[in-house]
Amino acid sequence: MRDSTLQDRLRIVVLISGSGSNLQAMIDQNHRGDTPARIVAVISNKTEAYGLKRAEQAGIPANVLSHRDYSSREEYDAALQQLIDSYQPDLVVLAGFMRILSDAFVRHYQGRMINIHPSLLPRHKGLNTHQRALEAGDPEHGCSVHFVTAELDSGPIILQASVPVEASDTPESLAQKVHEQEHRIYPRAIDWIARGRVRLENDTVLFDNQPISEQQRRATTD
Ligand code: GRF
Repeated sequence: MRDSTLQDRLRIVVLISGSGSNLQAMIDQNHRGDTPARIVAVISNKTEAYGLKRAEQAGIPANVLSHRDYSSREEYDAALQQLIDSYQPDLVVLAGFMRILSDAFVRHYQGRMINIHPSLLPRHKGLNTHQRALEAGDPEHGCSVHFVTAELDSGPIILQASVPVEASDTPESLAQKVHEQEHRIYPRAIDWIARGRVRLENDTVLFDNQPISEQQRRATTD
């Protein structure tokens, strides 16, 4: 178990591209002081990302590293890696970071990088998940927090939350319901990692040193 003294808090770097509402949920959790985790920096690939303002308002270093300034994915990812590592993070958190990551980058952070995806993985990897859940007639939809591996949206799952799909739902209404669940489960997954309860070992998520069960993975809607 990790010690939860201030000096020993899990150091987190959060990567964003947009609104940063998930980042806000993490900042709020940090401010409540009920988790041994600390956001040490936020990095965006887009100057206009609103999440940068959220970071500044919370007194967290906010960096922009634009992919437009680099001629290849590999060069950008190498610069990004260098910037991230200058903050010596224990965990890299992707929170709406809209970039495909190179294999070398993913390998470098293996077991130390997590993502949230707006679907009940393995359903609906990739984009437009709310629209696709509606088109498929899914009775339920939701979101998943997972460790990042080389294959897009396919890493081992830590936590999932579901919402029922109603006949009256639109992609927008579903997005809103799913977002509310994201704001619950992402901070919780980070807290589990910060407390040393969750870790990745050989592609398996361990919870209290045992492979995580389906029940532990499914967040109840309390
Ligand atoms: C979320 O829907 C998340 O699932 C996806 O990107 C979106 C980010 O939203 N990966 P926000 O910027 O945290 O508001």
